[in-house]
Amino acid sequence: MSTLAMFGGRPAVPGGTPPPAWPVITEEDREAVLGVLRTGRFTAAAAGEQEIPALEREWAQRVGTAHCLAVANGTIALSIALTAAGVGPGDEVVVPALSFVGTALAPVHLGAVPVFVDVDPTTFNLDTAQLTAALSPRTAAVLPVHLHGLPADMDEVLAFARARGLVVVEDAAQSHGVAYRGRVTGALGDAGVFSLNVSKNLPTCGEGGLITTDDPALADRAGVLRQFGERLPDRGERPYVSEVAGWNAKINAIQAAFTRVQLTRLDQAQARREENVRRLLTSVAELPGFAVPTAAPDRGHGWHILRFRVRPAAFGLVRSQASALREIVMRALRAEGVAVSRYQTTPLSDQPVFAGRTVASRSLDVPVTRAVLDDSFVLQRVHLNPAAGPVLEMVAQALAKVWEHRDLLARVVDARTRDREPV
Ligand SMILES: Cc1ncc(COP(=O)(O)O)c(C=O)c1O
Repeated sequence: MSTLAMFGGRPAVPGGTPPPAWPVITEEDREAVLGVLRTGRFTAAAAGEQEIPALEREWAQRVGTAHCLAVANGTIALSIALTAAGVGPGDEVVVPALSFVGTALAPVHLGAVPVFVDVDPTTFNLDTAQLTAALSPRTAAVLPVHLHGLPADMDEVLAFARARGLVVVEDAAQSHGVAYRGRVTGALGDAGVFSLNVSKNLPTCGEGGLITTDDPALADRAGVLRQFGERLPDRGERPYVSEVAGWNAKINAIQAAFTRVQLTRLDQAQARREENVRRLLTSVAELPGFAVPTAAPDRGHGWHILRFRVRPAAFGLVRSQASALREIVMRALRAEGVAVSRYQTTPLSDQPVFAGRTVASRSLDVPVTRAVLDDSFVLQRVHLNPAAGPVLEMVAQALAKVWEHRDLLARVVDARTRDREPV
């Protein structure tokens, strides 16, 4: 058995093997950006600008919705979609407690109130069994998140919402082009929202967002909301009339052009990622110490983030030692050359902005979110490049090596936690 790198052994991923970069930037991407510079038309409001409407058409087609609107980022896309769907000040919006903070900040920016509910321990998505408990007379919308790229249980969310006249906006920021029961995320609710942040599976060179919907009135309102509340005429002079309190949330044409090129490679890149990630997960699933992410046969997975839970019992430890075990496993993996990290460290309801009552919010108990955050670590970005296969094989070897040394790691955890919590 080879020595763990944290105790002086040779790392499983040697220092000279950085993961291939994400996003992949080719000559085509560079040309697309330069092409916009040559036209001199940079914003959605510039007369004759073509890249933004082209991206909107192409993404609507990929998702299968009648309309798409490109905006400045995913967070403002959520605020605009909620507002365009009729959510307003004082309305409650049900959100999962495990997500990126943008999910919960988006309702706040229109004066609405996020209500946090717990997630499922294996999918990490909103636990639909909690929805009834979250209801109040002010409930106006449900905002399910397809976290890490795995579609949430949308049929259950939609059945619940439709029976009560609630709006459903999908936070598909992490699930570009992912299948759910024969359809695609972003085409399931009243509106879908995507982030084009440079870290995402469909990236831009910076920040961007997309709103998809089949509802022409919602699309129309969203267009007005991204442009200072103005309705711009197809041609002729700008009237400078604002109908509603809109935002300036326009995307840049350079960003649209970059994403259009990335979109031509999205499905091919996703197919390669699927192969690479499945190989990694199949091999890690054989190690009883780790629970690996999965997807039910009725849906795909964007594999945007890979979340692994440690299983204290498999290491001969108790549940209360989960967080210490996760910490030592992360240290061991980092020493092996694997860039593991945490994605979110507290439930959203514990973020100072909400827990400190800076803004109004409500939360149910979220024990599953707490347990997941305690005992899990993630791989982000390192697996996104389609050429990441060989690096992921080394990652699998690193996890296997850490598991081989489980008794030693368990003894370290025990020594650290003994005073507080005897086994
Ligand atoms: C689940 C989720 N929701 C919302 C957002 C917000 O998107 P953006 O960063 O483009 O504002 C993100 C992006 O990180 C996200 O991952």
